Amino acid sequence: MTNPKPRPGLRDVSPYESPQLEAAARLNSNECPYPLPEGFRNALAEAVRSLPLNRYPDREAKRLRERIAEHSGHAVEGTWVANGSNEVIQQLLLAYGGPGRKTLVFEPTYALHERIAWITHGELVRLRLDGPFTLGSGDVAAAADEKPDVVFVCSPNNPTGNAQPVWAVEELAESTDALIIVDEAYIEFGGEPANGLIATHPNVAVARTFSKAFALAGARIGYCLAAPEVIDDLRRVRLPYHVSAITQAAGLVALDHVKEAMALLDAVRRERDRIVDALASIHGVEAFHSDANFVLFRPPGDARRVWQGLLDHGVLVRDLTEVIPNALRVTAGTTDEVDRFLKALEEAMA
Ligand SMILES: Cc1ncc(COP(=O)(O)O)c(C=O)c1O
Repeated sequence: MTNPKPRPGLRDVSPYESPQLEAAARLNSNECPYPLPEGFRNALAEAVRSLPLNRYPDREAKRLRERIAEHSGHAVEGTWVANGSNEVIQQLLLAYGGPGRKTLVFEPTYALHERIAWITHGELVRLRLDGPFTLGSGDVAAAADEKPDVVFVCSPNNPTGNAQPVWAVEELAESTDALIIVDEAYIEFGGEPANGLIATHPNVAVARTFSKAFALAGARIGYCLAAPEVIDDLRRVRLPYHVSAITQAAGLVALDHVKEAMALLDAVRRERDRIVDALASIHGVEAFHSDANFVLFRPPGDARRVWQGLLDHGVLVRDLTEVIPNALRVTAGTTDEVDRFLKALEEAMA
């Protein structure tokens, strides 16, 4: 008996995982801290109860795409849905990346972009941005010199928190033939959306999610706004019936309750700004500006020790020390969670 042999190099790579540890305040995954409103949960239960689950779902997710298009002010022919924006990105790279094709990322950024380029057997080029991590004309020119097939711009960027200027996305779209994928997972919290460029720049595609501002990380709903030709290419690589009837129903119910979800955004932004202000006032702590629902910071001393100290006090944050020297990232939680984080930080640094 022999063990099956995976693709070369597969076992040199570890699974992409962030710790899912139990903690009183879980501030490590940039989720919405508020549970879904009662009205939403009842409407979702009702919608799921009446689904004909013995049948395959609508392969085109037509109703959900129509509602997302309406919500985004974009044509339905240029609107696509998938299981989280991660799947949107994977489908975009299946269609536009792959063997012999170059994907370019500006680091530090969301590690999944690079991971999905690898999963889809593409070549990767990394350009590094220094603090404050904002794209400039020099970065655009350096990217164009690489003659990439796909370029990622994450705005607001995870894990740094800053949004990127839309003029830089436009310059990128004009100086290369590449597909420019703008990852706007956090756009509802801040920054200028890039979807307005699509009409004049059909090589721009925007990926968004219901996981953050819509408080639906558990439902796995992401969407893409792009030129209709790009969406047609996604149809060529998607699996049939890739969005389940339950997921489609959850998306429709979420859009019926969009006002309630958007009403929570101000509270999240307030807590985010309170974190930045509080961190900046602590001697030795470096806090970065954020347009998202999380804050990147550097404590004085050893950040890993501070990470453990926070966890010992029931607060889980993200350890980013392997990506940005001595850096941690904290998600804007409820007022109580943020109070708990700030108190625990004081004690962890003592
Ligand atoms: C920048 C960015 N893009 C995409 C995602 C994935 O979102 P989804 O839950 O829609 O797959 C995340 C999740 O944290 C993210 O930070």
